[in-house]
Amino acid sequence: MANVVVIGTQWGDEGKGKVVDLLTAHASRVVRFQGGNNAGHTLVVDGEKSIFHLIPSGILYPDKRCLIGNGVVVDPEVLLEEIKGLFERGIKVDPQRLGLSERAHLIMPYHKAIDIAREKAKGASKIGTTGRGIGPCYEDKVARVGIRAVDLAEPESLDDKIKANLKEKNFCLANLFESEPLAYEPIAERYRSLSHELSPFIVDVSIELDEAIRRKENVLFEGAQGTLLDVDHGTYPFVTSSNPVAANASIGAGIGPKRLDSIVGIVKAYSTRVGAGPFVSELTDEIGDYLQEKGQEFGATTGRRRRCGWLDLVVVRYSTRLNGLTHLAITKLDVLTGLDTLNLCIAYEHQGDTLENVPPQLSTLNNCSPIYQAMEGWHEDISGARALEELPKNAQAYVKRIEGFVGVPVSIVSVGPGREQTIVCTNPFDSS
Ligand code: GDP
Ligand code: IMO
Ligand code: MG
Repeated sequence: MANVVVIGTQWGDEGKGKVVDLLTAHASRVVRFQGGNNAGHTLVVDGEKSIFHLIPSGILYPDKRCLIGNGVVVDPEVLLEEIKGLFERGIKVDPQRLGLSERAHLIMPYHKAIDIAREKAKGASKIGTTGRGIGPCYEDKVARVGIRAVDLAEPESLDDKIKANLKEKNFCLANLFESEPLAYEPIAERYRSLSHELSPFIVDVSIELDEAIRRKENVLFEGAQGTLLDVDHGTYPFVTSSNPVAANASIGAGIGPKRLDSIVGIVKAYSTRVGAGPFVSELTDEIGDYLQEKGQEFGATTGRRRRCGWLDLVVVRYSTRLNGLTHLAITKLDVLTGLDTLNLCIAYEHQGDTLENVPPQLSTLNNCSPIYQAMEGWHEDISGARALEELPKNAQAYVKRIEGFVGVPVSIVSVGPGREQTIVCTNPFDSS
């Protein structure tokens, strides 16, 4: 029995959805603990593609229960759309299958409006957010004026809260951002009716997890975004507004940290980033285009073209420390097939100094150049490999180099988007 956390070690989109789907086979419950529908997690099962933004990626297994923890910010409209989309595909997501924490904060229409208006006002210095209202919702949570799922059950105080919040938000929208203020009545009315649709799903996730863990069931925690987008540890201010690091699985789901056994870090075999911000190993040449096209690197949430670059091992080692990784899952190795030479960024050069860690200052990071170690590539198709020994020698050496550099064993290697296109070396649920 073990509880496993899956997190992204880079800037998101590492393939967390695929790995969570794969590992769900060993768990009874899959739990999201932070972020919101800024996430886009892609699964390909029997050739059919699904993208989930809020519902945990375990939902395709009919006998597993999915939970949305208190640390997630939930846009009720998106949640209902996702449930509806699954229903249309013959997958019934009822309160047996899905639970939403009563303490989760709700994304309101004014959060989206502020997110979009603020980005517009920033002009060239914008962060490139997903525009889903994530930052403003977390701001309200910390400012202690947020609206939580539990508030839906108390319509009168819900109305008061919406009214008080709107007063402030409309002032900002109209006076700071030159945007249209929002009307109170349609929002209040909509959230009253949402209450009926959502209330059957609302549960105490912490109590449910405690009971499941006492029964020795396996629980899988699904991270969103990635460590370099962490509001504390990422490339601030070009980050998201939550903590995607593994420790937050404890806070964002309401369980004690000693109950987390294995921490699986997902490492894409190269680097990508959506939105603005520093990216030391970025490639703006034809190899960057090659990775973007071959890897189909378009945002699963916004459809934006992802920036691409060589694998940054400084970043992966940084993530290893911050998350206390116990296992690595390397994804998209197949995308590197066909390149003669592969570069691995093993340190940064800054004004004549060699840096081995990610510096905190944006100005320093923006002026770092990558120091590369070159490795030989391979040309054989690897998408059918199901054991490490079936990979070409140079691909094995690439995997071993990552493992050696960060000092954590490789547990999974993904060689294609499909559930079955995977090499499983060890099972993270077996480790305790
Ligand atoms: P997430 O946000 O971390 O879940 O990742 P995304 O779903 O946003 O992006 C990962 C993309 O890569 C998706 O389109 C996946 O279907 C795809 N993918 C995952 N693993 C592999 C792999 O090993 N090879 C290839 N070619 N694609 C993969
Ligand atoms: P998954 O879970 C990649 C990025 C945005 C932007 C920054 C802040 O699919 O890996 P936000 O809307 O969160 O305030 O935007 O964070 N971002 C992601 N990039 N994958 C994600 O999620 C992301 N979620 C947010 O592009 O740069
Ligand atoms: Mg994604």
